[in-house]
Amino acid sequence: MKQALVAAALTLLASVGFVWWIAADMAPRKAFAPPSAEPPPAAETDYLRAVYSPLHFRPAIETANDAQCLECHREVLDDPVRSAALSGLETDALPAAWYQQLSTYTGAQDTFHRRHLVTPLAKQLMNLRCNTCHQGHDPREEAPGATADSAGQDERGFTLRKQVNSETTCLKCHGQFPWPFMGLPGPWETHRVELGNNCLLCHAAIRTKRHAVNYLNAAAIEQAAQESADVCYGCHGGRAWYRISYPYPRTPWPEMPAETPEWAQGRPTQSEARFLNPAAQGAQP
Ligand code: HEC
Ligand code: HEC
Ligand code: HEC
Ligand code: HEC
Ligand code: HEC
Repeated sequence: MKQALVAAALTLLASVGFVWWIAADMAPRKAFAPPSAEPPPAAETDYLRAVYSPLHFRPAIETANDAQCLECHREVLDDPVRSAALSGLETDALPAAWYQQLSTYTGAQDTFHRRHLVTPLAKQLMNLRCNTCHQGHDPREEAPGATADSAGQDERGFTLRKQVNSETTCLKCHGQFPWPFMGLPGPWETHRVELGNNCLLCHAAIRTKRHAVNYLNAAAIEQAAQESADVCYGCHGGRAWYRISYPYPRTPWPEMPAETPEWAQGRPTQSEARFLNPAAQGAQP
């Protein structure tokens, strides 16, 4: 009898132990974690928060200053170009590109952003800001009209998958020289000698109200142009990436003829509102 009781108790103990063992195995286990003093990094959340920074969207981007953008995007100004291509070719050993042979070009090869924001020529003639070119950045979908909060289909500012609307920025300074409108017999390169290589020959009196925009240093441009027409030509044909020229506003000037030439019909008579800077004015009144 006593033996039977002991056997029963043992069996009970064994089965309870077995059930406990199974249950413990089924219970959610603590993940294996190596001993560490540092808390786990929250990088992912911070990254997404940065991607969706209000500064990437309107209206905040319209009033953002460069320092705010550069807090996260220092790379656009800090990172230099490579000194050698991945193939091993030294940059210095390569022939200069055409735009590096212009009379206004100085210094070693540099990045796109630095050439527009910090090179000596850029600082002398221009005052470009991040939001002169960047008017928004939708990280969810870089197509207009794709999400409820993205720019509409009719919004030309966001060309598909481009960060910048090049038609309304780059083209202004990288279009063709519009010689047909000037009544010139041909391109500047072939006729500049007979015109004394001097834009001011005509532009001391024609279209004198120019460059009154916040991203250009109007007075410095006129001053630099006294030395060389290449300064003017640089932004009006000399560094052309386009086959067309920009349809500039035709700001009225004092001796402006009453009749509007056909090519200028429908042109605006002042610069875009977001750039307007009446305090600055190139040339003479
Ligand atoms: C809080 C940090 C932060 C601020 C401030 C910020 N950005 Fe960004 N930006 C990011 C991050 C993160 C991304 C995503 C980068 C990626 O995924 O490669 C990004 C992406 C971009 C992109 C697209 C890059 C690409 O390769 O697609 C542009 C253009 C941009 N930002 C411009 C700006 C401008 C202009 C400003 C100021 C108005 C600004 N950003 C302010 C963090 C920031
Ligand atoms: C002259 C016009 C211009 C200015 C000024 C400008 N950007 Fe850009 N930026 C561009 C263009 C064009 C691209 C390439 C866009 C594309 O790939 O669709 C670009 C790309 C970028 C990118 C994506 C990563 C890269 O390096 O390609 C970031 C981030 C960026 N810009 C930030 C800035 C910030 C911050 C400033 C101000 C300090 C600034 N940009 C000023 C035109 C400009
Ligand atoms: C307000 C006038 C202006 C605007 C707008 C402008 N650029 Fe420029 N760009 C310049 C000037 C001036 C230089 C010459 C800078 C130098 O020689 O240091 C230049 C140089 C360049 C270069 C040669 C850079 C190098 O590597 O040496 C490229 C490429 C370029 N621009 C492309 C663009 C693109 C693309 C845009 C539009 C996103 C743009 N630019 C908008 C004035 C402008
Ligand atoms: C022989 C005289 C003459 C010379 C030299 C000349 N221009 Fe012009 N330019 C004109 C005339 C005329 C117009 C059109 C005026 C009007 O709006 O009716 C004009 C218009 C322009 C325009 C505006 C074009 C548009 O589509 O609105 C620009 C930009 C320009 N000139 C730049 C230059 C630059 C840069 C040089 C030197 C490289 C130069 N011009 C040399 C006579 C000249
Ligand atoms: C750094 C680039 C740059 C330089 C240098 C430059 N321009 Fe311009 N020019 C521009 C831009 C950008 C505009 C359009 C501004 C606007 O939208 O009002 C413009 C506009 C003009 C216009 C049309 C003005 C109007 O409102 O009717 C004329 C004419 C002109 N430039 C002639 C010249 C002459 C002449 C020189 C040399 C003295 C010169 N530019 C130098 C970038 C430049």
